Amino acid sequence: MRSYSLQASAKINLYLEIIGDRPDGYHELAMVLQSIDLVDRIDLRPIGTDTIRVRCDHPQVPPDKNNLAYRAADLLVKQFPDALAKYGGVEISIHKQIPVAAGLAGGSANAAAVLVGMDLLWQLGLTQSELQELGGALGSDVPFCIAGGTTLATGRGDELSPLADLGSFCVVLAKYRNVSISTAWAYQTYRQQFGSSYCAPEDLDCRRERLHSGPMVGQLPKDRSKIGKLLHNDLEKVALPVYPQVLQLREAFESAGVLGTMMSGSGPTVFALAESRAQAEEVRDRVKSAIASPDLDFWVANFSNTGIRIVSDGNEMKPQINADQRR
Ligand code: C5P
Repeated sequence: MRSYSLQASAKINLYLEIIGDRPDGYHELAMVLQSIDLVDRIDLRPIGTDTIRVRCDHPQVPPDKNNLAYRAADLLVKQFPDALAKYGGVEISIHKQIPVAAGLAGGSANAAAVLVGMDLLWQLGLTQSELQELGGALGSDVPFCIAGGTTLATGRGDELSPLADLGSFCVVLAKYRNVSISTAWAYQTYRQQFGSSYCAPEDLDCRRERLHSGPMVGQLPKDRSKIGKLLHNDLEKVALPVYPQVLQLREAFESAGVLGTMMSGSGPTVFALAESRAQAEEVRDRVKSAIASPDLDFWVANFSNTGIRIVSDGNEMKPQINADQRR
């Protein structure tokens, strides 16, 4: 049986608005999500036993049942016991480049790659929608990570409407190694502080309709020069006052003359947009010397239109996954 290598893309949030409470306890969101070509590699290898094994080269990623990639494989084992009996277990090797607990959906991207790869390994023939539905049970970002690109995400982040490609922007990302922000904490704190202004449940549908004509979704594809001004993240309102290092990074990027800068998701990564790689590298160098902290890591990446990509022996074979057709 074949082995598969897959690339899983990180995402940034160009827009994150918290609209209200949902009956399931999550928040109703409006987000514009963008894949970037900062990727992890996931190798899937069949093993002769009926177990799932996870290996990871990053010390902060648990190679056990707490790993979202493990949970993705376990979900397929439970859903398709006959496939496990027929094809056997799998070893999942995760080679991390996406920073961990960073607001870049690294764990969700790994889980997405496992769903896509095991679908191939076990010849399940699942559609993209079916894979995304399984992914939604693992985490709100997993369905997006399967498809990738530029997408409006509503609901709890799992209802996706693909948007027009925004073209080739470059991104500088920066994260303090010693700072992490719990997603659950960020949303819970937001609810405590701003819950009284949430949209009433009966108005949610109408509010959702209006998103499509809102500035980020309706105007941006027509005028890409506006992108910096349209960046928005409600979770900054709770994170920036508590994490001064994140605020300091935001300010340093702003002073470095970028198109726009924002915390991604629940943080603590801050990203800045640039028109070209040369400009992005210049911004990175300027912020690096302005802050000069040994705990600060930087990455430079491009917007990408791919969530999961299948690679073999290091050679790209084909993008994954197309539309909603069975293979
Ligand atoms: O879905 P995921 O596991 O990534 O969510 C992590 C936490 O973030 C949830 O337990 C919840 O507290 C919060 N969250 C939320 N509303 C969302 C997504 C996440 O309140 N739409």
